[in-house]
Amino acid sequence: MTEQPTEIATDAPAEGTEAPKKLFIKTYGCQMNVYDSERMAEALGAKGYVTTEVAEEADMVLLNTCHIREKAAEKVYSDLGRLRPLKQAKPDLKIGVAGCVAQAEGEEILRRMPLVDLVVGPQSYHRLPEMVEAKGKVIDTDFPEEDKFDHLPKRKALRGPTAFLTVQEGCDKFCAFCVVPYTRGAEVSRPAARLLAEARDLVSRGVREITLLGQNVNGYHGAGDGGTWGLGRLIREMAAIDGLDRLRYTTSHPNDMDDDLIAAHAEVPQLMPYLHLPVQSGSDRILKAMNRKHTAEQYLRLIERIRAARPDILLSSDFIVGFPGETDADFEATMDLIRAVGFGAAFSFKYSARPGTPAAEKPELPAELCDARLQALQALITEQQRAVQVAMVGREVGVLYEKPGRLPGQMVGKSDHLHAVHVADSLGKPGDLVRVRITASAPNSLAGEPLRG
Ligand code: SAH
Ligand code: SF4
Ligand code: F3S
Repeated sequence: MTEQPTEIATDAPAEGTEAPKKLFIKTYGCQMNVYDSERMAEALGAKGYVTTEVAEEADMVLLNTCHIREKAAEKVYSDLGRLRPLKQAKPDLKIGVAGCVAQAEGEEILRRMPLVDLVVGPQSYHRLPEMVEAKGKVIDTDFPEEDKFDHLPKRKALRGPTAFLTVQEGCDKFCAFCVVPYTRGAEVSRPAARLLAEARDLVSRGVREITLLGQNVNGYHGAGDGGTWGLGRLIREMAAIDGLDRLRYTTSHPNDMDDDLIAAHAEVPQLMPYLHLPVQSGSDRILKAMNRKHTAEQYLRLIERIRAARPDILLSSDFIVGFPGETDADFEATMDLIRAVGFGAAFSFKYSARPGTPAAEKPELPAELCDARLQALQALITEQQRAVQVAMVGREVGVLYEKPGRLPGQMVGKSDHLHAVHVADSLGKPGDLVRVRITASAPNSLAGEPLRG
C-alpha cells in the first residue's frame, strides 16, 4: 500500500490531432489503483492527452482515490481544496475524481466540492474519454455488464522492467471493517487467454517481472483452456512465457491458498520467494468478529505448509489494531502470532470505522490505546524485519535493476525477496537481472556488489 503520488507517462498523441492537452494524475491507495491510473492515462491518450508531472500546467487533473481508511479519504478533499486557486485561474481546467472515494461517495463529492467536473467509479474507466468531452458535471459509478479492460486501448506506458497486471477485481469476503466489497464490487476474474496475451505483450516491450494483482488475487478463477483456472495454473502458464523471469502476486486471503498454488511455490522457479498474506489479528475472538473465517492456529498451519513448499519464502502481512472490542489479551495474541511466524515486513493500521461496514456500528476504543498498540506492534515488526535483513548479509541473491541510484555507478533494484538493493555496478542498466552478494543492511534497504564473469 502506498499513498505516494504516482506520475504516469503516455506516448505522444496520434498524428493529426490538435495540440496535446495535458493530464496530471495523482494516485492514492493500492497497486490496483496504480494499474488503473496507467490504463486511464492510455484511454485519455487516445483523446490527445499527454501526461505531465506539473499540476499547474495541466488541462485536466485526475485524482485516483482510496477509501480504505478515513485519513485516505479525507486527504482527497484537502487535495481538492488545494486545487481551487488553479481552477479559478484556469476555468477550463477539468477536475476528475476516480477510484474508491468516487465509488463510495458519488454525488456527495460534487456537493462538497463544486469545482469537481467528473466522478468516475473503478468499473467505468473505459467511459472516461466520452466523459471528458461532455459539457457540465458528469458522474458514472455503475458496475456495467461489459468488461472495462476489453474497451481500454492496448497498454503503452511502461515505466521499467517491472509491471502490474490486474487479473482479478472485487471481493466477496466482506470482512467486517472493509469497504472494498462495496467500492470494487463482486469478485470478477479476467479470462486467462487475455491475461497471457497482455503478459506476452509486456514482455515483448522489455518487462521481465510481472506482479499479478487482485483485491483477492488467490481467489482467481478465470476461464482457461479446458475449464476454470485457479491462480496456480495461471502462474504456471505465465512462467512458460519466454523472457518473463519473475512473477509475484498480491493480495491474498489465507482461505484461498489452495494446494496447487502452494505447490507452485515449490515448482515454479520464476515465482519469487515472497508472499503477502494478511492475517489482521492473532486473536480468534477478533478474527471471528472481523468475519475472517479462520483461526490463528489455521493461519500458522498454513504458513507451515507454505514454508515446507518453499523454505526460504519471506512472509509479510497486514494488521489492524484497536478493532472494536479488542482487549489487551487479544492484542497479546496478535503479538504472539507475529513472534511465532517471524515476518519480513508488514503493514499495520489503527482501525478506522468506515461508513456502511458492519464494524462501524460498534463502539470504538480510545485513540491512545490504539496508538500504544500500533507502536508496540510496529516495533516488533521492525525488529523482525531488521533481523531478516541482517541475515541476508553475505548471501547471494538475484536483483532486477530498476533504475540508477543516487550515487554515480550505482543501480537500484529489488531482490528475489523484494528487498530494495543498492548495487555498486557501473556496467549495470535497468532491466539487468544480476547475481549480487549482499554486503550491508541499512534500515530500509540492502547494499550489494555484482557477481559478474
Ligand atoms: N484484499 C486486500 C485488501 C486491501 S486493504 C487484503 O485483504 O489485503 C489493505 C489493508 O488495509 C487490509 O489488509 C487491512 O489491514 C487494512 N484495512 C482495511 N480496512 C481497514 C479499516 N477500516 N481500518 C484500518 N485498516 C483497514
Ligand atoms: Fe477487504 Fe477482507 Fe476483501 Fe481484503 S479480503 S478486500 S480486507 S473484505
Ligand atoms: Fe483503497 Fe480502493 Fe485499493 S479503497 S486500497 S484504492 S481497492
